[in-house]
Amino acid sequence: MTQRRFETAITKMFGIRHPVLCGGLMWLSNADYVAAVGRAGGLGFITSRSFKDLGHFRAEIQKCRDLAQGNPIGVNLYMTGRDADDSVNQSYVDVLIDEGVKAVETAANTPRSVLPRLKEAGCTVIHKASVVRHAEKAVRDGADAVVIVGMECGGHPGLDFIGSMVQGAIAPDRITVPVVLGGGFGTGRQLVAALAMGAAGIMLGTRMLVAKEIWADERIKQRVIDADEGGSRLVLSSLRKTYRVMDNTTARKVAELEAAGETDFEVYRPLVQGSFQVEAYESGDPEKGLLSMGQSAVFADRIASVEEIYGEIMDDAERSLDKLRRVTLGM
Ligand SMILES: Cc1cc2nc3c(=O)[nH]c(=O)nc-3n(C[C@H](O)[C@H](O)[C@H](O)COP(=O)(O)O)c2cc1C
Repeated sequence: MTQRRFETAITKMFGIRHPVLCGGLMWLSNADYVAAVGRAGGLGFITSRSFKDLGHFRAEIQKCRDLAQGNPIGVNLYMTGRDADDSVNQSYVDVLIDEGVKAVETAANTPRSVLPRLKEAGCTVIHKASVVRHAEKAVRDGADAVVIVGMECGGHPGLDFIGSMVQGAIAPDRITVPVVLGGGFGTGRQLVAALAMGAAGIMLGTRMLVAKEIWADERIKQRVIDADEGGSRLVLSSLRKTYRVMDNTTARKVAELEAAGETDFEVYRPLVQGSFQVEAYESGDPEKGLLSMGQSAVFADRIASVEEIYGEIMDDAERSLDKLRRVTLGM
C-alpha cells in the first residue's frame, strides 16, 4: 500500500488516501477498475452510460462495492443538457442513491437537475468542466468541488482550448470550492505543481488506460504506450464537438473531411459511432473508431496495476518535493 503523503480538501472530502482521482472512462471504468482505484487510495467513477440497462448498472455498482474492500467508489453522470438524457440520468441517480454510492462526478453541462436529489441523499458531487467559467456556474448551482480539465485531456476538451497550466494558476483563486486539475496529468511532479498552484488534487484519464484492471485488449494498451505527447489529435472542432483522440486512421479520415469543409454530422456518423470503440477495445484494433486519448499518453510506458501506477506517481511526487526543497534552500 502506497503511503499517504498529502492531505488536502479533496482527500478529506472523499475520505481517500491520495489526492488523485480517476475520471470516468466510457466503456472502460467498470467495477474492476474503479474498485482497484479505491484500493490504491484514489477515487474512480463508474460511467453510468456504459451499461445496457439499469439492472446491469446496479449489478456493476454492487460488484464494485464488494471489490473495493470498504474504500469509496464513485459514479460518473454525463450531463448533455438534453431532456431525454436528463430523464435517463434521473434513473441512474435513483439506482446510485439506492445502492449507497456517495461520490458522484458530473461532466459537461451543469448538474443542476440532479443536484438536489444527490445532496439530499448525502452524496458529494464534483463537477468536471473544461473552462473556469463553466465550473463557476456549477458551483453556483451547488457542486461541492470541481475538476477543471485543460485542452491536453483525452475525450472532450471543450471549445476554448485553454491548457491546464494556465487554468491551474487562475482557478483556485476564482473558485470557492476545492479545485482538482485534469488534462495532461500523469506524474507526481505534476501533482506537486498542481498543489503548489492551489489545487486540491489531480484527475487522471489517459494515464490509466494501460492499467492491468482496464479490460481493453493489450494491443490498445500497447498503442497508448507507443504514443508520445504528440500521439493524439483534436477532431470535430469544426462541428463544435471537439474530441481529443488517438491519432489513428479513423481520426485522420475525420480530419480530412473537416479540412474539406464537411459540416453534416451524418457524413461523419459511419466513422465515429460509439459502438466502434467497444469493438476496438474488444478486438484490439486501434484503427477502429475515435478512441479518446490525451497528451499524457507519453507517461504511460508499460502495463502495470493501478496500485503500481499510484505508487510510481506518489514516489515521483516525493522526489520532486525533495528537488523543490533543495531549490528553496539554494543547494
Ligand atoms: C478513453 C477515455 C474515455 C473517457 N470517457 C469519459 C466519460 O465517459 N465521461 C467523462 O466525464 N469523461 C470521460 N473521459 C475524460 C476523463 O474522465 C478525464 O477527465 C480525462 O481523461 C483527463 O485528462 P487526461 O486524459 O489528460 O488524463 C474519458 C477519457 C478517456 C481517455
